[in-house]
Amino acid sequence: TRTIRLAVIGGDGIGPEVVAEALSVLTAAVGDEASIETTAFSLGAARYLATGDVLPDDELAAIAQHDAILLGAVGGTPGDPRLKDANIERGLLLKLRFALDHYVNLRPTVLWPGVESPLRDPGDVDFVVVREGTEGPYVGNGGALRVGTPAEIATEVSVNTAYGVERVVRYAFAKAGERRNRLTLVHKTNVLTFAGSLWKRTVDAVAAEFPDVAVDYLHVDAATIFLVTDPARFDVVVTDNLFGDILTDLAGAISGGIGLAASGNINPSGAFPSMFEPVHGSAPDIAGTGKADPTAAILSTALLLDHLGLPEAAGRVTAAVTADLAARSGAPRTTAETGAAVRAALPVPQGAS
Ligand code: NAD
Ligand code: IPM
Ligand code: MN
Repeated sequence: TRTIRLAVIGGDGIGPEVVAEALSVLTAAVGDEASIETTAFSLGAARYLATGDVLPDDELAAIAQHDAILLGAVGGTPGDPRLKDANIERGLLLKLRFALDHYVNLRPTVLWPGVESPLRDPGDVDFVVVREGTEGPYVGNGGALRVGTPAEIATEVSVNTAYGVERVVRYAFAKAGERRNRLTLVHKTNVLTFAGSLWKRTVDAVAAEFPDVAVDYLHVDAATIFLVTDPARFDVVVTDNLFGDILTDLAGAISGGIGLAASGNINPSGAFPSMFEPVHGSAPDIAGTGKADPTAAILSTALLLDHLGLPEAAGRVTAAVTADLAARSGAPRTTAETGAAVRAALPVPQGAS
């Protein structure tokens, strides 16, 4: 049987708690279709506080030798002064995304049957945000002058390349073609005219190759209106790194909570391993209480299995989560209880007795 080598980064806070459940669901769902070999990497705020390391080069190189990465969440309590110099988010999470060329940050949003949305009449919510993952304001192209003085100047310059925009736009069109043939570009072309123009021209050019895909455009502020008033209008949304970050927390909220929102940081070429993680963070406010919902992490393993060419196992994970969400009573459950319920709901693999 095929061997799948997974790098596992539990991370901080609820990260390791949700990853434990996700791994056990993944392993059960794969059954004997493949054998799963995991390597645990202890990285994140806790590791930094213990050793001073954020992401040593040899560990990055070791992670890159795997078929895929499963990540919980990294980062400490926002504002913790001991972490000020570490910048775990940039030095670890973004470093992985950039070094492994995860130019597609795929963030699906589904209002699962039985799940209550905070919206009164959400309709049929099923869309995917294709968030650019390696450019935009995230690249660290900035600086500060006269720090700490009344004359301080800070810049964060968004970087958008024709190469980088085209490849993610192309991916989004192909995704729309596999779905309902609708693509929405979200940007802020009325103000961010240089980058906006590049994104708009790129979408128009690629659209010519996908005549079946209906294209529309929304400014990001208006997109937040429609995400709340009419989320069912969206199929595929393509957008830059920062807008995509913000829109996908909102998307998580309207579809029943951030505890259900999965994501993949994908390198479509396969040159580097892709990384799958819940959209949420380390949730220091509930870490250690058993309150974290592992569903987002579990659904991230379905994206992982799909990416690795195991669509049947991915389908079993999704089916089990769907069944579990439909059967939930609303009574509070622990992380482990939800993991166990999802495992119990896994369809038996074909050929198993
Ligand atoms: P967060 O997503 O960790 O928490 C926001 C709120 O959502 C909290 O009230 C939390 O309790 C709740 N929540 C999150 N996940 C949940 C789950 N699975 N089940 C139930 N409730 C859940 O965002 P934050 O507080 O802004 O960030 C905390 C830390 O995580 C920061 O250091 C931040 O930088 C980091 N972070 C990391 C990632 C990542 O590693 N991918 C993503 C986002 C934030
Ligand atoms: C996310 C997170 C990260 C991001 C942070 C922690 C760097 O918010 O994965 O959505 O902004 O991409
Ligand atoms: Mn985010």
